[in-house]
Amino acid sequence: MGSTLIKGGTVVNADAAVTADVLLRDGKIAALGLGHDWRADTVVDASGKLVLPGGIDVHTHLEYPIDGFTTRTADDFHSGTIAAAHGGTTTVVDFVKKEPDRSLRESYLRRRDVAAAKSFVDFGLHAIVPPREQQPDVLDDLRLLVAEGASSWKFFMAYPGTQMVDDGQLLDGFELAVECGVLPMVHAENGHMIDREIRLLLSSGRTAESFHAVAHAHESEAEAVHRAVVLADSVGTPLYVVHVSSAEAAMEIGRARTRGSRVWGETCPQYLAVAYEDYADLGERAAAYVCSPPIRERGNQEGLWRALGAGTLSTVATDHAGFCMEQPDDLPPQKLRSPGYFPKVPNGVPGVEDRLMVLWETGVRTGRIDVCRFVDLVATRPAKLFGLFPDKGLIAPGADADLVVWDPAADHVITAAGSHLRTDYNLYEGMRVTGRPVHVFSRGHHLVDDGVLDGEPGRGAFLARGNPQIF
Ligand code: URP
Ligand code: ZN
Ligand code: ZN
Repeated sequence: MGSTLIKGGTVVNADAAVTADVLLRDGKIAALGLGHDWRADTVVDASGKLVLPGGIDVHTHLEYPIDGFTTRTADDFHSGTIAAAHGGTTTVVDFVKKEPDRSLRESYLRRRDVAAAKSFVDFGLHAIVPPREQQPDVLDDLRLLVAEGASSWKFFMAYPGTQMVDDGQLLDGFELAVECGVLPMVHAENGHMIDREIRLLLSSGRTAESFHAVAHAHESEAEAVHRAVVLADSVGTPLYVVHVSSAEAAMEIGRARTRGSRVWGETCPQYLAVAYEDYADLGERAAAYVCSPPIRERGNQEGLWRALGAGTLSTVATDHAGFCMEQPDDLPPQKLRSPGYFPKVPNGVPGVEDRLMVLWETGVRTGRIDVCRFVDLVATRPAKLFGLFPDKGLIAPGADADLVVWDPAADHVITAAGSHLRTDYNLYEGMRVTGRPVHVFSRGHHLVDDGVLDGEPGRGAFLARGNPQIF
């Protein structure tokens, strides 16, 4: 593979930023320092730029099956990981849903192989724990899956009748997670409260797309976060709350952490940089913004930023689940399949390519977070929590050479047309950012050179992840 010297940049880790040259050899970071006469096959000038650990997006849904496996998200592991790479993300951790005619373990192994054939960046897989009636012996499978690298399991507290598990199943799963050293993740929304709200809205004729957000009240998220933490504490497991959208829900996490609970919260760029007011009056085009939990009022954003600043929330991932507004060639209609009727809008928004730029623009450039916190949120903490550290998530000798040379002075306008996704719209359309990735290295390979990709599908490696590092 040869060697590369990244010269003269400011190397940023979660704990410090220092000026240093970085020598990459055989896919690893070989050395880090100043004033050495290192020789390399290739030299990249990083003066005036930052050198960051490759982004780790621990929440994506690429070619994610929905509606009983009758259709799926628009981006697959091919387009989705190309887009990730262009945005400075060198690792994604996606999800495995149990297929109707396969066990969870069989589904996991199959999806691993599908993704391995298509991915341009390294990837791991979380297991989604199905309701017990879908697979009575699912706990046996989960135990086996730990050896296959599934060191995190996701439980849905929403979507009764399809994905929601009850409190008894949460407790059983949490108990097994303790035994296996696994990090349980929860989609924390009270599914029954939401279903009731949906019924009330529909019965009064309030069916338009923007009512999706009304159905998913702050209280239903905060209640589920509170309950999940109490249940987790009762069996002694750490807990990871995915896609925290409500400042009230974040406060539940803050209170729990103050009490000593080992709970970590993730939020997403769409909750920080987009608001209900942006789509409330768009009619059926509001479908573009429909995701669960929903994108909330602008006044909610400041509470999320405070939670990020205070350490109450610990990671920023995307929950990338891209659906098209216009019907894709190879799939049934997506976002606009039932205009004017919010319950039928497929849930999810894109973002895997934009995560770093949007967080940089709205977080670092506004002074809300500094560069080290930025790295912690998008790479280091995700690596630690999801069993990838110290191979990934930091710049140090011995780590994988997953790096981003970031130009903090480069201007860029985010558009769907300029993106590498199949999703045909962008939530951040027209956003001007200053700061973008110019070089992206994946295990030492120069994968993106100023917007030009050099790689082939299947070069991304499956990551059999180890136990989380919780501290
Ligand atoms: O709306 C969303 N978030 N769709 C993806 C699946 C999930 O709940 O995370
Ligand atoms: Zn979810
Ligand atoms: Zn998700």
